[in-house]
Amino acid sequence: MASSSTTGSRHCCFLLALPLLSSTAHGQLSPTFYAATRCSALDRIVRDEVSRALFRDPPPLGGPRMGASLRLFFHDCFVQGCDAAVLLDVDPTKGILLGEKDAGPNANSLRGFEVVDSIQSKVEAACPGVVSCADILALATREAVVALNGSTWPLLLGRLDSRTANQSQANSDLPSPGSDIDTLIAAFARKGFTAPELVALSGAHTIGLARCVNVDQSQMQRCRVPTTDSGLMAALDDQTPEEFDSHYYDKLGKRGLSRSDRVLTSRGDLDALVRKYSASQAAFFADFASAMKKMSEVGVLTGAHGEVRANCRRVN
Ligand code: HEM
Ligand SMILES: *[C@@H]1O[C@H](CO)[C@@H](O)[C@H](O)[C@H]1NC(C)=O
Ligand SMILES: *[C@@H]1O[C@H](CO)[C@@H](O)[C@H](O)[C@H]1NC(C)=O
Repeated sequence: MASSSTTGSRHCCFLLALPLLSSTAHGQLSPTFYAATRCSALDRIVRDEVSRALFRDPPPLGGPRMGASLRLFFHDCFVQGCDAAVLLDVDPTKGILLGEKDAGPNANSLRGFEVVDSIQSKVEAACPGVVSCADILALATREAVVALNGSTWPLLLGRLDSRTANQSQANSDLPSPGSDIDTLIAAFARKGFTAPELVALSGAHTIGLARCVNVDQSQMQRCRVPTTDSGLMAALDDQTPEEFDSHYYDKLGKRGLSRSDRVLTSRGDLDALVRKYSASQAAFFADFASAMKKMSEVGVLTGAHGEVRANCRRVN
């Protein structure tokens, strides 16, 4: 489909990729990494594909639920950094023996892989070999939140994609829904986040669904949202499950779907923050935005150990 135009643009961007490689060798993310000639179509492609994906299916599968790419990004960044390793399929010929996507917290749960694939194939046609899957995931996540009328944040770009995945780190470092507050604080501290940032980031649960196995006993009556792929599920935010807003925080200690949501109110200073976000969506949006920007920079690859994958699911 896009093939007729690729020869010319490949020629153009191959040359332009040389300064790109040398700048990544210095290990710098930059706000203007793909500016103008490198890939001027990038922002538009990501925006169009994300809104197409978000609003293709009716709720609960479409719309907000596809904003669940938020979770994909979180689970990428918390495991050896925002390096798109979570996208890699098992491929023994490339040394990928176990996938992060098959780890306990991810298997039969993470969504949005095809959305990343479709964005990447369009970006690849427009700007071959230039834009990493890790950057696409960072951009798509932000655009999903924007499309849902949530907050926005500035992104630095120039991440490279990993040539490895680490399933055991996915199993050890991704927080589990049965966690108590100290365990959650420690899991986020390991990645450089403060306890207040844990509270702000948990507001991502303003959208999306959970499987009943992850639901607190006290909330089991909420496991009644039918889905075609996972049976009955429960809305993480039972008041406005379709809106990116701050109602997740309302009476969170009672209403939180999982233990990990409920315990955010169990420490006085954090409970004060929960109440602040519940009262002020603007306060939540501002703190969520800065914490997401920070998340987008966790452990990024910019040196010799990364690459720009031609296919997000496979090492080159
Ligand atoms: C604080 C620690 C966290 C824990 C323990 C946790 C746990 C979970 C669990 C168990 C689910 C349901 C998954 C399923 O049943 O398939 C879920 C869903 C979700 N989580 Fe979290 N989460 C946490 C933080 C975050 C953060 C920081 C983000 C993003 C910034 C996030 C984004 C999401 C989204 C969007 C969904 C909905 C997914 C969907 O509808 O498919 N979570 N989370
Ligand atoms: C976002 O806001 C616009 C303008 O108010 C509205 O038309 C649109 O339906 C909203 N989108 C979502 C997903 O809530
Ligand atoms: C995978 O992660 C674990 C736990 O963080 C770490 O001990 C191990 O060295 C990592 N393996 C590789 C190959 O990086």
